[in-house]
Amino acid sequence: MTKPFRVVMTRPIMQPAMDLLSGQCELRVWEQEAPIDAATLKDWLRDCDGLLCVGDRIDQAVLAAAPQLKVISQPAVGYDNIDIDACNRRKIPVGYTPGILTDATADLTITHLLTAARRFCEDWDFVRSGKWRYNIPTFMLGTDIQGKTLGIIGFGQIGQAVARRAQAFGMNIIYFDNETKNVPGCERKELEQLLAAADFVSLHVSLTPQTRRLLSTEQFALMKPTAVLINMARGPIVDSEALVMALKTKTIAFASLDVFDPEPIPADHPILALDNVVITSHRGSATLETRTAMSLLAAENLLNGLSGKPLRFCVNAAVQN
Ligand code: DGY
Repeated sequence: MTKPFRVVMTRPIMQPAMDLLSGQCELRVWEQEAPIDAATLKDWLRDCDGLLCVGDRIDQAVLAAAPQLKVISQPAVGYDNIDIDACNRRKIPVGYTPGILTDATADLTITHLLTAARRFCEDWDFVRSGKWRYNIPTFMLGTDIQGKTLGIIGFGQIGQAVARRAQAFGMNIIYFDNETKNVPGCERKELEQLLAAADFVSLHVSLTPQTRRLLSTEQFALMKPTAVLINMARGPIVDSEALVMALKTKTIAFASLDVFDPEPIPADHPILALDNVVITSHRGSATLETRTAMSLLAAENLLNGLSGKPLRFCVNAAVQN
Protein backbone atom coordinates (compact mmCIF):
# COMPACT_ATOMS: atom_id res chain seq x y z
CA MET A 1 0.00 0.00 0.00
CA THR A 2 1.43 3.39 -0.90
CA LYS A 3 1.75 5.73 2.00
CA PRO A 4 0.56 9.31 1.54
CA PHE A 5 3.66 11.17 2.79
CA ARG A 6 7.42 11.07 2.23
CA VAL A 7 9.48 12.01 5.24
CA VAL A 8 13.22 12.48 5.73
CA MET A 9 14.65 11.78 9.19
CA THR A 10 18.20 12.85 9.97
CA ARG A 11 18.30 10.40 12.91
CA PRO A 12 16.17 7.47 14.00
CA ILE A 13 14.14 8.36 17.11
CA MET A 14 12.55 6.10 19.75
CA GLN A 15 10.84 2.98 18.37
CA PRO A 16 7.20 3.79 19.34
CA ALA A 17 7.51 7.02 17.34
CA MET A 18 9.20 5.23 14.44
CA ASP A 19 6.27 2.77 14.42
CA LEU A 20 3.76 5.62 14.43
CA LEU A 21 5.49 7.38 11.55
CA SER A 22 6.19 4.32 9.44
CA GLY A 23 2.47 3.43 9.49
CA GLN A 24 1.65 6.60 7.55
CA CYS A 25 4.85 7.74 5.88
CA GLU A 26 7.49 6.54 3.48
CA LEU A 27 10.54 7.14 5.72
CA ARG A 28 14.06 7.85 4.56
CA VAL A 29 16.24 7.66 7.65
CA TRP A 30 19.91 8.63 8.01
CA GLU A 31 21.28 5.75 10.10
CA GLN A 32 24.97 6.66 10.30
CA GLU A 33 26.57 7.98 13.46
CA ALA A 34 28.13 11.03 11.78
CA PRO A 35 25.47 13.64 10.93
CA ILE A 36 23.99 13.73 7.46
CA ASP A 37 25.98 16.06 5.18
CA ALA A 38 24.22 19.05 3.62
CA ALA A 39 24.50 17.74 0.04
CA THR A 40 22.83 14.40 0.88
CA LEU A 41 20.17 16.13 2.96
CA LYS A 42 19.33 18.46 0.06
CA ASP A 43 19.23 15.54 -2.34
CA TRP A 44 16.91 13.53 -0.08
CA LEU A 45 14.62 16.52 0.48
CA ARG A 46 13.91 17.08 -3.23
CA ASP A 47 10.64 15.15 -3.20
CA CYS A 48 9.78 14.99 0.48
CA ASP A 49 6.79 16.39 2.41
CA GLY A 50 8.15 16.32 5.96
CA LEU A 51 11.48 16.64 7.74
CA LEU A 52 12.30 15.34 11.18
CA CYS A 53 15.71 16.73 12.15
CA VAL A 54 17.89 16.55 15.25
CA GLY A 55 20.17 19.56 15.56
CA ASP A 56 21.07 19.71 11.85
CA ARG A 57 21.52 23.14 10.28
CA ILE A 58 18.31 23.88 8.38
CA ASP A 59 18.80 27.13 6.48
CA GLN A 60 17.52 28.91 3.43
CA ALA A 61 19.64 26.75 1.09
CA VAL A 62 18.32 23.50 2.59
CA LEU A 63 14.74 24.75 2.34
CA ALA A 64 15.30 25.80 -1.28
CA ALA A 65 16.15 22.18 -2.06
CA ALA A 66 12.80 21.03 -0.63
CA PRO A 67 10.04 22.50 -2.82
CA GLN A 68 7.27 20.25 -1.40
CA LEU A 69 8.20 20.55 2.26
CA LYS A 70 5.10 21.06 4.45
CA VAL A 71 6.46 20.70 7.98
CA ILE A 72 9.65 20.44 10.05
CA SER A 73 9.64 18.72 13.41
CA GLN A 74 12.44 18.40 15.94
CA PRO A 75 12.45 16.46 19.24
CA ALA A 76 14.01 19.32 21.25
CA VAL A 77 13.08 22.49 23.09
CA GLY A 78 15.83 24.48 21.34
CA TYR A 79 15.57 25.34 17.65
CA ASP A 80 18.56 27.61 17.09
CA ASN A 81 19.73 25.27 14.30
CA ILE A 82 16.68 26.15 12.18
CA ASP A 83 16.30 29.42 10.27
CA ILE A 84 12.80 30.30 11.48
CA ASP A 85 12.54 33.45 9.32
CA ALA A 86 13.22 31.36 6.23
CA CYS A 87 10.53 28.85 7.37
CA ASN A 88 8.10 31.74 7.90
CA ARG A 89 8.70 32.97 4.36
CA ARG A 90 7.80 29.50 3.07
CA LYS A 91 4.95 29.16 5.63
CA ILE A 92 6.48 25.94 6.95
CA PRO A 93 5.48 25.24 10.57
CA VAL A 94 8.31 24.09 12.85
CA GLY A 95 7.38 21.68 15.65
CA TYR A 96 9.33 21.38 18.89
CA THR A 97 8.89 19.64 22.26
CA PRO A 98 8.92 22.09 25.18
CA GLY A 99 7.81 21.08 28.68
CA ILE A 100 8.33 17.33 28.65
CA LEU A 101 12.10 17.54 29.02
CA THR A 102 12.02 20.12 31.80
CA ASP A 103 12.38 17.69 34.72
CA ALA A 104 15.06 15.51 33.10
CA THR A 105 17.12 18.61 32.27
CA ALA A 106 16.67 20.10 35.73
CA ASP A 107 17.72 16.75 37.27
CA LEU A 108 20.94 16.71 35.26
CA THR A 109 21.60 20.32 36.25
CA ILE A 110 21.46 19.35 39.91
CA THR A 111 23.65 16.34 39.14
CA HIS A 112 26.23 18.74 37.69
CA LEU A 113 25.91 21.08 40.65
CA LEU A 114 26.49 18.32 43.20
CA THR A 115 29.21 16.70 41.08
CA ALA A 116 31.13 19.98 41.18
CA ALA A 117 30.40 20.70 44.85
CA ARG A 118 31.46 17.23 46.05
CA ARG A 119 34.34 16.66 43.59
CA PHE A 120 32.63 13.48 42.49
CA CYS A 121 34.56 12.83 39.27
CA GLU A 122 37.90 13.72 40.82
CA ASP A 123 37.27 11.25 43.64
CA TRP A 124 36.21 8.48 41.26
CA ASP A 125 39.41 9.04 39.20
CA PHE A 126 41.37 8.85 42.48
CA VAL A 127 39.73 5.59 43.55
CA ARG A 128 39.86 4.00 40.09
CA SER A 129 43.54 4.73 39.72
CA GLY A 130 44.22 2.78 42.93
CA LYS A 131 45.36 5.83 44.94
CA TRP A 132 42.88 5.34 47.83
CA ARG A 133 45.04 3.88 50.59
CA TYR A 134 44.19 5.90 53.72
CA ASN A 135 41.20 7.89 55.02
CA ILE A 136 42.61 11.36 55.68
CA PRO A 137 40.15 13.81 57.34
CA THR A 138 41.49 16.90 55.57
CA PHE A 139 41.74 15.39 52.09
CA MET A 140 39.81 16.46 48.94
CA LEU A 141 37.11 18.46 50.64
CA GLY A 142 34.12 19.66 48.69
CA THR A 143 31.68 22.38 49.61
CA ASP A 144 28.19 22.33 51.16
CA ILE A 145 25.46 23.60 48.91
CA GLN A 146 23.04 24.40 51.75
CA GLY A 147 23.07 28.16 52.34
CA LYS A 148 24.94 28.84 49.10
CA THR A 149 23.57 31.08 46.36
CA LEU A 150 22.54 29.69 42.99
CA GLY A 151 22.32 32.27 40.21
CA ILE A 152 20.06 31.09 37.40
CA ILE A 153 20.38 32.84 34.05
CA GLY A 154 17.18 32.30 32.08
CA PHE A 155 14.21 31.72 34.39
CA GLY A 156 11.83 29.82 32.12
CA GLN A 157 10.41 26.36 32.75
CA ILE A 158 13.79 24.64 33.13
CA GLY A 159 15.35 27.45 35.20
CA GLN A 160 12.39 27.38 37.57
CA ALA A 161 12.48 23.57 37.86
CA VAL A 162 16.16 23.86 38.82
CA ALA A 163 15.25 26.51 41.41
CA ARG A 164 12.65 24.23 43.05
CA ARG A 165 15.16 21.43 43.36
CA ALA A 166 17.90 23.70 44.68
CA GLN A 167 15.52 25.24 47.24
CA ALA A 168 14.90 21.72 48.58
CA PHE A 169 18.66 21.52 49.20
CA GLY A 170 18.51 24.81 51.15
CA MET A 171 20.09 27.02 48.48
CA ASN A 172 19.27 30.71 48.01
CA ILE A 173 18.02 31.49 44.51
CA ILE A 174 18.63 34.60 42.45
CA TYR A 175 17.90 34.84 38.76
CA PHE A 176 18.42 36.99 35.71
CA ASP A 177 15.72 37.07 33.07
CA ASN A 178 14.27 39.77 30.83
CA GLU A 179 10.97 39.32 32.65
CA THR A 180 10.35 39.42 36.39
CA LYS A 181 8.80 36.09 37.44
CA ASN A 182 6.71 35.84 40.54
CA VAL A 183 8.30 32.73 42.06
CA PRO A 184 8.37 32.51 45.87
CA GLY A 185 11.85 32.81 47.36
CA CYS A 186 13.52 33.75 44.06
CA GLU A 187 14.85 37.25 43.55
CA ARG A 188 15.54 38.91 40.19
CA LYS A 189 18.93 40.57 39.79
CA GLU A 190 20.73 42.28 36.96
CA LEU A 191 23.23 40.00 35.24
CA GLU A 192 26.27 41.72 36.75
CA GLN A 193 24.80 41.57 40.28
CA LEU A 194 24.01 37.89 39.85
CA LEU A 195 27.49 37.04 38.63
CA ALA A 196 29.08 38.83 41.59
CA ALA A 197 26.81 37.22 44.20
CA ALA A 198 26.41 33.62 43.06
CA ASP A 199 28.39 30.61 44.30
CA PHE A 200 26.97 28.57 41.42
CA VAL A 201 25.89 30.13 38.10
CA SER A 202 23.60 27.99 35.93
CA LEU A 203 22.69 28.85 32.33
CA HIS A 204 19.20 28.14 31.00
CA VAL A 205 18.65 30.69 28.23
CA SER A 206 17.97 29.89 24.57
CA LEU A 207 20.71 30.63 22.08
CA THR A 208 19.83 33.86 20.25
CA PRO A 209 21.94 36.71 18.82
CA GLN A 210 21.48 38.43 22.23
CA THR A 211 22.70 35.47 24.32
CA ARG A 212 25.59 34.36 22.08
CA ARG A 213 28.76 34.77 24.18
CA LEU A 214 26.75 36.21 27.06
CA LEU A 215 29.56 35.06 29.31
CA SER A 216 33.09 36.02 28.31
CA THR A 217 36.25 37.43 29.93
CA GLU A 218 34.50 40.51 31.34
CA GLN A 219 31.74 38.46 32.97
CA PHE A 220 34.11 35.82 34.39
CA ALA A 221 36.06 38.65 36.04
CA LEU A 222 32.90 39.60 37.96
CA MET A 223 32.41 36.10 39.36
CA LYS A 224 33.75 34.81 42.68
CA PRO A 225 37.05 32.92 42.41
CA THR A 226 35.23 30.05 44.16
CA ALA A 227 32.34 30.11 41.70
CA VAL A 228 31.16 27.12 39.67
CA LEU A 229 29.70 27.63 36.18
CA ILE A 230 27.07 25.17 34.94
CA ASN A 231 25.93 25.25 31.31
CA MET A 232 22.96 23.09 30.38
CA ALA A 233 21.70 25.38 27.61
CA ARG A 234 23.83 25.84 24.49
CA GLY A 235 27.62 25.94 24.09
CA PRO A 236 27.92 29.27 22.25
CA ILE A 237 26.31 31.16 25.16
CA VAL A 238 29.78 30.92 26.72
CA ASP A 239 32.94 32.14 24.99
CA SER A 240 34.91 28.88 25.10
CA GLU A 241 38.33 30.47 24.75
CA ALA A 242 37.60 32.90 27.58
CA LEU A 243 36.29 30.01 29.71
CA VAL A 244 39.49 28.00 29.24
CA MET A 245 41.48 31.06 30.29
CA ALA A 246 39.22 31.74 33.32
CA LEU A 247 39.64 28.13 34.47
CA LYS A 248 43.39 28.08 33.84
CA THR A 249 43.96 31.33 35.76
CA LYS A 250 41.46 30.26 38.48
CA THR A 251 39.39 33.39 37.84
CA ILE A 252 36.55 30.95 38.51
CA ALA A 253 36.98 27.66 40.32
CA PHE A 254 35.16 25.09 38.22
CA ALA A 255 32.93 24.49 35.21
CA SER A 256 30.42 21.67 34.93
CA LEU A 257 29.05 21.58 31.41
CA ASP A 258 26.57 19.55 29.39
CA VAL A 259 27.08 21.63 26.25
CA PHE A 260 30.10 23.22 24.64
CA ASP A 261 31.19 25.21 21.61
CA PRO A 262 32.10 23.30 19.50
CA GLU A 263 30.22 20.03 19.80
CA PRO A 264 31.47 17.39 19.71
CA ILE A 265 34.66 18.60 21.40
CA PRO A 266 37.79 17.75 19.38
CA ALA A 267 40.08 15.38 21.32
CA ASP A 268 42.88 17.97 21.36
CA HIS A 269 40.76 20.87 22.66
CA PRO A 270 42.51 22.66 25.57
CA ILE A 271 39.41 22.39 27.80
CA LEU A 272 39.94 18.62 27.98
CA ALA A 273 43.37 19.06 29.56
CA LEU A 274 42.03 21.00 32.55
CA ASP A 275 41.34 19.37 35.89
CA ASN A 276 38.73 21.89 37.06
CA VAL A 277 36.06 20.95 34.55
CA VAL A 278 33.56 18.13 34.05
CA ILE A 279 31.75 17.76 30.74
CA THR A 280 28.87 15.52 29.69
CA SER A 281 27.83 15.07 26.08
CA HIS A 282 24.65 17.20 25.66
CA ARG A 283 22.42 14.77 27.50
CA GLY A 284 19.98 16.98 29.42
CA SER A 285 16.93 15.09 28.17
CA ALA A 286 18.61 11.69 27.77
CA THR A 287 16.36 9.40 29.80
CA LEU A 288 14.31 6.57 28.33
CA GLU A 289 11.02 8.10 29.45
CA THR A 290 11.77 11.64 28.36
CA ARG A 291 13.28 10.74 25.00
CA THR A 292 10.29 8.47 24.29
CA ALA A 293 7.85 11.27 25.13
CA MET A 294 9.83 13.75 23.02
CA SER A 295 9.94 11.34 20.08
CA LEU A 296 6.18 10.72 20.24
CA LEU A 297 5.42 14.44 20.43
CA ALA A 298 7.77 15.16 17.53
CA ALA A 299 6.04 12.43 15.51
CA GLU A 300 2.62 13.87 16.38
CA ASN A 301 3.72 17.38 15.37
CA LEU A 302 5.04 16.01 12.09
CA LEU A 303 1.90 14.03 11.27
CA ASN A 304 -0.32 17.00 12.11
CA GLY A 305 1.71 19.25 9.82
CA LEU A 306 1.59 16.70 7.00
CA SER A 307 -2.18 16.48 7.18
CA GLY A 308 -2.66 20.25 7.42
CA LYS A 309 -3.66 20.28 11.11
CA PRO A 310 -2.14 22.68 13.68
CA LEU A 311 0.96 21.32 15.42
CA ARG A 312 0.61 20.73 19.17
CA PHE A 313 3.77 22.72 19.81
CA CYS A 314 4.80 25.05 17.03
CA VAL A 315 7.67 27.58 17.14
CA ASN A 316 6.05 29.78 14.46
CA ALA A 317 2.35 29.15 15.05
CA ALA A 318 1.37 32.25 13.03
CA VAL A 319 2.17 30.46 9.74
CA GLN A 320 -0.59 27.94 10.51
CA ASN A 321 -3.35 30.58 10.33
C1 DGY B 1 16.94 20.54 23.48
O1 DGY B 1 15.87 20.01 23.72
O2 DGY B 1 17.03 21.68 23.01
C2 DGY B 1 18.16 19.75 23.79
O3 DGY B 1 19.24 20.53 24.06
C3 DGY B 1 18.46 18.83 22.64
O4 DGY B 1 19.13 19.50 21.66
